[in-house]
Amino acid sequence: MRAITIPTPGDADALVLAEVPTPEVAASEVLVQVAAAGVNRADLMQRQGFYAPPPGASAYPGLEVSGTVSALGASVTGWEVGDQVCALLAGGGYAEQVAVPATQLLPVPAGVSLVDAAALPEVVSTVWSNVFMTANLQPGQTILIHGGSSGIGTMAIQLARVIGARIAVTAGTAEKLEACRELGAEILINYRDQDFVEVLREATQGRGADVILDNIGAKYLARNVTALAVNGRLVIIGLQGGVKADLDINALLRKCAAVIATSLRGRPAAEKAAIVAAVGEHVWPLIEAGEVRPVVHRAFPLAQAAAAHRELEAGTNIGKVLLTT
Ligand SMILES: NC(=O)c1ccc[n+]([C@@H]2O[C@H](COP(=O)([O-])OP(=O)(O)OC[C@H]3O[C@@H](n4cnc5c(N)ncnc54)[C@H](OP(=O)(O)O)[C@@H]3O)[C@@H](O)[C@H]2O)c1
Repeated sequence: MRAITIPTPGDADALVLAEVPTPEVAASEVLVQVAAAGVNRADLMQRQGFYAPPPGASAYPGLEVSGTVSALGASVTGWEVGDQVCALLAGGGYAEQVAVPATQLLPVPAGVSLVDAAALPEVVSTVWSNVFMTANLQPGQTILIHGGSSGIGTMAIQLARVIGARIAVTAGTAEKLEACRELGAEILINYRDQDFVEVLREATQGRGADVILDNIGAKYLARNVTALAVNGRLVIIGLQGGVKADLDINALLRKCAAVIATSLRGRPAAEKAAIVAAVGEHVWPLIEAGEVRPVVHRAFPLAQAAAAHRELEAGTNIGKVLLTT
């Protein structure tokens, strides 16, 4: 089969399409003939040599795919060859075939195309596990979503809207903020010329955000803590603004607030299985009812993976970038 390999880490041209062995399928896994793979910011870091796959994972990039089941491991039940699925991966999605633990599969939701379904597993699992399972966002609460027009952000806005939360977002252009508004965001903040702490304070009569979903890390830590409401939860999922910063514990203590940081990729298989099961139970019905949809910016052929990475690096995407086989 063909897969995107990274012989030497570097810029987008480090991605090389090559002939590689077909993956072996363990007893608890299925083989998926890939139709499309989602491109995630983590793939850019892996390509640059900054984000090694967890032990046992494929060396090729790609954290989510859609496709058709082509073989079943000996102990797999509940799935058939020919089923159309999408899957959460620890790696290996930029390929024509990938072996996936059966517990990380979901059916392609009714009403979603096979290709577009590749935009779902990683973002939905990340948003559901962090915003709902961990930060426990409730109806009527306010959530601040940084990078609202990102793949993650476009899904977070929709799910927060469905439960009846009030949504604030940051983004870097008026066009991106308008896309966020159309998805359900109400408080729109251009981080290039507005201070999100000030805008949020004004919009919430001084209360702040009950939940913040943050992709920036160090650069925003102090301002995020200031922007939290009493009992607020700051969940950091990205480190685009660095990894080290001072934390004012007293500010946190006075608010009885929490700072949490998580990574989906490195979680044990059992935790991933629980997240995927929860997503299937709570989010899939919303997608099938048309209340939530994958937001796909553009699909590139697998052979043009470098161009897909450049698109994400340029920050011109609203929603997900995909690769098709
Ligand atoms: N921890 C996990 O398990 C996990 C899982 C999946 C993703 N993530 C993280 O989630 C983030 C989004 O991932 P993605 O794949 O959806 O990436 P993406 O589509 O490339 O989005 C990156 C976003 O960052 C925004 N951004 C850049 N600088 C910003 C700033 N100063 N303030 C606010 N936003 C800013 C960009 O907005 P502009 O274009 O407007 O600048 C863009 O929307 C990434 O950091 C990724 O690593 C974490």
